[in-house]
Amino acid sequence: MGIFHCPFGCPHFEAEGCIECGLCLATTNEEMVEASKNVRAYLKAHAMEGGPVRKIAICGKGGVGKSTTTTLMARVLKDQGYTPLVVDTDESNPGLYRALGLPNTPKPLFNLMSRFSYSETPEPGTEWIMLPEINLEDIPREYMVSDQGMNFVMVGKIENPFQGCACSMADVTRSLVARLKLKDKEILLIDTEAGLESFGRGVERSVDLILAVVEPSFESMALAERIVYMAEGMGVDRVGALLNKVSSKAMEEKMILELKKRKVETLGTIYFDADVLEAGFEGNPPGNTRAQAEMEPIAKLLLNVIQQSRV
Ligand SMILES: Nc1ncnc2c1ncn2[C@@H]1O[C@H](COP(=O)(O)OP(=O)(O)O)[C@@H](O)[C@H]1O
Ligand code: SF4
Ligand SMILES: [Mg+2]
Repeated sequence: MGIFHCPFGCPHFEAEGCIECGLCLATTNEEMVEASKNVRAYLKAHAMEGGPVRKIAICGKGGVGKSTTTTLMARVLKDQGYTPLVVDTDESNPGLYRALGLPNTPKPLFNLMSRFSYSETPEPGTEWIMLPEINLEDIPREYMVSDQGMNFVMVGKIENPFQGCACSMADVTRSLVARLKLKDKEILLIDTEAGLESFGRGVERSVDLILAVVEPSFESMALAERIVYMAEGMGVDRVGALLNKVSSKAMEEKMILELKKRKVETLGTIYFDADVLEAGFEGNPPGNTRAQAEMEPIAKLLLNVIQQSRV
């Protein structure tokens, strides 16, 4: 296994911070499973207690509305006087910056990948990604687009065959998320990859809260249950479901009940909104839609959590 997969960011076995879980030494599937159990037990025992929520990961199955709800949430937070930083970790879909109303994309973070390799000389100007603590001001303007209080960075898009492995892209994201030092009203929203990919890569390791976006489908609800399980294994105990594209009150009630059975708490509901779909079709910001209004109480609930304790 490559050194960059250490869930604790250690360069090698017995380095500082190594918990000797055995993941990097595992050669068989059984050893791998055993080592993963060790990581899980360690993280569970060292779960973050309370504290303010500043880093939020938005997860869920492909197409459930992660990017849409990230956009709605970022807009509401901005209107409430917060400074959102949206991290786009999707390696394929290009339109999030447009939905956020931003004029262009920044330089992709994967340009910094040489910092994560011991064999290549890092490019000048990439030193900031290895600072032990990264403030928003430390992120060079070329890597972060900011407009009217909205901030945006992106990992990058796969544009060419053989361009490289998404794991190394996830290393950059994981490192940034872990090192970001956010001030009072700064909130990080990570629009994660579909499914459980990002969990496998440990991207959520240092977030304070995970939002599982759930649409009315069996797969999506089953995945929410897995997300709660994975989050727990990462030491994140603040996890909630955000229902999206819900067709009726009756469907909402059924979903809440089903999720409850799966031990997933529901934080709020966004109904199916034809105007959101239309905006998505045009690649435009969702605007003053009903969905935007529905996001307000959900964001306020989160803001209460952001101020202090737990979901
Ligand atoms: N509440 C909603 N009502 C109607 N359409 C929605 C809603 N949320 C998302 N969509 C549409 O669903 C599609 C997938 O949404 P998207 O945010 O791209 O999903 P993901 O990021 O999870 O892959 C888009 O066409 C989007 O416009
Ligand atoms: S034993 Fe575990 S914690 Fe130590 S370096 Fe290997 S993967 Fe990381
Ligand atoms: Mg998306």
